[in-house]
Amino acid sequence: MTQEMWTAVDNYIVETLGLEKSLYREVQAACDAAGLPPIQVSASQGKLLEIFVRMTRAQSVLEIGTLGGYSTVWMANGLPPGGRVVTLEIDVKHAEVAAANFARAGLSDRIDLRIGPALETLPVVEREGAGPFDLIFIDADKANIPSYFEWALKLSRFGSVIIVDNVVREGAVIERDSTDVSVQGVRRLNEMLPTIEGIESTVVQTVGGKGYDGFTIVFVRRQ
Ligand code: SAH
Ligand code: DHB
Ligand code: MG
Repeated sequence: MTQEMWTAVDNYIVETLGLEKSLYREVQAACDAAGLPPIQVSASQGKLLEIFVRMTRAQSVLEIGTLGGYSTVWMANGLPPGGRVVTLEIDVKHAEVAAANFARAGLSDRIDLRIGPALETLPVVEREGAGPFDLIFIDADKANIPSYFEWALKLSRFGSVIIVDNVVREGAVIERDSTDVSVQGVRRLNEMLPTIEGIESTVVQTVGGKGYDGFTIVFVRRQ
């Protein structure tokens, strides 16, 4: 099995199911035109995030790591009227591209974009009482995943779902002695998960146009 095959099948899925509506292509094109790194979720994964929002009947979503807002737009489109996404981004340029994309999508009124290091904006979000969030998507710097996960728990309620992106890392997650801080961030989360009471968690490996990676999926059943 090769990347070429995974990409071909991903393209087939996106085309056959008609997943990537023109809005998503426009948002993607704006990210590319601005020179952002092509590290957003794929269309099939974006649709999965939208479905998670719908499955959980989420009214409030927290995203850590906005980039150009591609995943944000997918999630925002799964919300009912009055639903809201708070999304956190450290890079001003990324945030500017994202803000333009939210306007393009007609979603500016339901997306609250906060600029700054997430470990500084998360306490502000908490202090403002913006939580608890029904769904939380962690997709920023991977070394801080354990801290982001602690924040996600703090900003959760009974029934909240927490998703973490990029947790398999082409299989590098099994390298115990890895010197890659991203791998170590994911490994620390994996070691934390079974010690936390009141959550159910799993990791699902994924392949597709964005390579070989995976999502951690956590259900909060006690707060
Ligand atoms: N969720 C996006 C992709 C996010 S890429 C999508 O799928 O469309 C990761 C983003 O996290 C980058 O834009 C990066 O600038 C941002 N980031 C990195 N470190 C951060 C930090 N400490 N706080 C907030 N955002 C951070
Ligand atoms: C990177 C970040 C991501 O969130 C992702 O999905 C892929 C790559 C990165 O920082 O390289
Ligand atoms: Mg990611």
